[in-house]
Formats: sequence, structure tokens, C-alpha cells
Amino acid sequence: MSLSNRKLKIAVLPGDGIGQEIVPEAVKAVKAVTGHVPVEMEQGEIGWTAVERTGEALPQATLDLIEASDAILFGAIGGPEYEAWKRTNPRGSPLLRLRQDLKLFANYRPVTLFPELENASTLKPEVIRGLDLLIIRELNGDIYFGEPRGPVSNGVGQRESINTMRYTEAQIRQVAHAGFRAAQRRRGKLCSVDKANVLETMALWRDVVTEVSKEYPNVELTHLFIDAAAMSLVRHPTQFDVIVTGNMFGDILSDEAAMLTGSLGMLPSASIGAGSKGLYEPIHGSAPDIAGKGVANPLAAILSAALMLRFSFEMEEEARRIEDGVREVLAAGLRTGDIMEAGARRVGTREMGDAVAEAIAAAA
Ligand code: IPM
Ligand code: MG
Repeated sequence: MSLSNRKLKIAVLPGDGIGQEIVPEAVKAVKAVTGHVPVEMEQGEIGWTAVERTGEALPQATLDLIEASDAILFGAIGGPEYEAWKRTNPRGSPLLRLRQDLKLFANYRPVTLFPELENASTLKPEVIRGLDLLIIRELNGDIYFGEPRGPVSNGVGQRESINTMRYTEAQIRQVAHAGFRAAQRRRGKLCSVDKANVLETMALWRDVVTEVSKEYPNVELTHLFIDAAAMSLVRHPTQFDVIVTGNMFGDILSDEAAMLTGSLGMLPSASIGAGSKGLYEPIHGSAPDIAGKGVANPLAAILSAALMLRFSFEMEEEARRIEDGVREVLAAGLRTGDIMEAGARRVGTREMGDAVAEAIAAAA
């Protein structure tokens, strides 16, 4: 597949809160590396920003834009107004809808520690030194989407509500393959995380992953229960290469893993399905508490743009140039508040984004 001889189109969806501040910085980085290739970026509305203008969180115009695009660069959705609106408009989260409608079943969350940020983590430097792991989170199943769900009547006059952890064999199989293939490209180790000791869904998970492992004799497969995995991730994180897990456990473990790298503001993600149209977003949310202040860390969004170039557009060199740009500004001592340390220079969102774009341009 060669994408490079036609114009590439990116749907840029900043969304809410700090999404509006960090995504423009990621756009700058993309522009800085794609000068030689025609890339078109068009902005669309999603989340509360869209509700305010159109009455809908995922308007048709945005769906059309996504349809016409090769990749989606996404910021965040949410905030107090949106949460309040959602209670009376329960059409589901637009982000979850996109993940499901576009069949983006594998969510890649690379957790790498920039050596410059060794001291930004709450963990001891010797625990996290050399950290380079990849969490692959299943994104289309589990308790996020399982039916039945919602309020149930129990006949005893008390409110009761349910959600269902549910997986088909096919769903587990496809993300397991993604896990094994990623491990083959890396250090050959895959750890599958489940709760097979208690939950039937997770016993099925373990069975299917074990079956799939027969096709990958060169990958070493281990299994951990989610509680033990959560512990091991802070006790001895560098033992991990690739972790594959379900939607819910992956959500939780990846926030935990982000802290190993110093901040939630450092972790990018790529959501990929069968085709090349992926959705790229920082793993953090809209952070209403700091939104509008110009202090958010744009690096997770910028690194997500690098993943977009790598996975959707096969532009490995350009992806690396963005990552090198990030490394360079960190080495130069620039820090947003979340990764600030003594002796560093505190910068805001825009200054950080400009510095990365400049570092990319200077290296060209
Ligand atoms: C994430 C987020 C989302 C999730 C929320 C915003 C729906 O926490 O991408 O990790 O739970 O998947
Ligand atoms: Mg999350």
C-alpha cells in the first residue's frame, strides 16, 4: 500500500478543554515534518464544543469529515457542562462511538521514558530507567460495550444498574494477534493481563490468547491477573515488553503506566482497526481544571501525531523526526508544569509546541 502519491487528509478534532490547546501544537509538528508531502488538515467539531454549536456531540458534518479522511487527530472530550448535558442526552460517548463504528479494536499505548524525565516520575529513577513497554488495549468490547446495560427494576424500590463484561472469541483473537505481532517486532515478550481466576469472560480471554500463542512460537507468553499486573507495573516495570489486555483493565493500567513516564501528559495513543484509518489521541482527558490557561503539556498530543504518521501513513522517518524534536526540547530543559523540576525552564503549551516545531525544522 502506498499512500504517498496522493494527498493525505487528516480530520483534526480538538474537542473540549485542553484539547483545544494541545491539538494545534500537534498540527504544528505535523506541518513541520510534512512540508514535502501534500497533507490536508481539516478541523471538525466534537464533544461539548459541538453541542454548543449544533446541539449534537458528534454532528453529521464531523462524521462526513471522518469518512473523507485517512486519519483522525483527536484531542479530548468532556467537562462539567458536557457531563451535565449527557445525563439528559444519553446517546453514548462520541469517542466510544467512533472507536466502535470505525472498528478500531486495538489501542496502542507506548510507555517510554525519556531519560531527561527520570526525575519527573514519582517513582525512583532506578525503577524506571530504560522503561520501554507497549500496552495494547482491546477497544471494542468488554464492559464498555457489553449488553445488557443500564438501569434495571428490582421490585424492591431501590435503584439498581448493571453493566456486562462480555467478549467473543473473535474479539479476543484479533487483539491477541495484534499483541503477538507487536512483540515479534520488539523484544519477543507478551504478557496477557486478565482476571481469569474470578471471571468467566476472562477465563475465555486466557484460553483464546493461549491458543493464538501456538502461532507465535518465538514469542514468550506470560499471564498475569490484573491485580498482580497493577502491582508489578510499579514494582518492576522494566520487565515488561508488550502487555495485551481488555478494554477496562487497559484503561486503568495505561493511566498507571503513564505515571512511570512522569506525567499523563506524556502518553500518546493510536487506535487501529483492520484498515489504515486510525484515531490518534493523547491518553489524558480534557482536564477542565487547567483548561484555557495555556499550561497543558502538548507532548502527548504531539507524540500521538507521530504515531499517526507512522501507523496510518507509513511515514516512519517523519514520525521519528517528531519524536527526536520532543527529545531535543526536553534535553534543552523545557518543561510544562506537570513535568517541572528544579533547574528546568517552565514553559506553557504554545511555547513547548513552538520549540518542538523549531527543533524539527532545525534538524531538517
Ligand atoms: C481513555 C479515556 C476514555 C476511556 C474515556 C474518556 C471514555 O479514559 O481513552 O483512556 O475510558 O476509554
Ligand atoms: Mg483512560
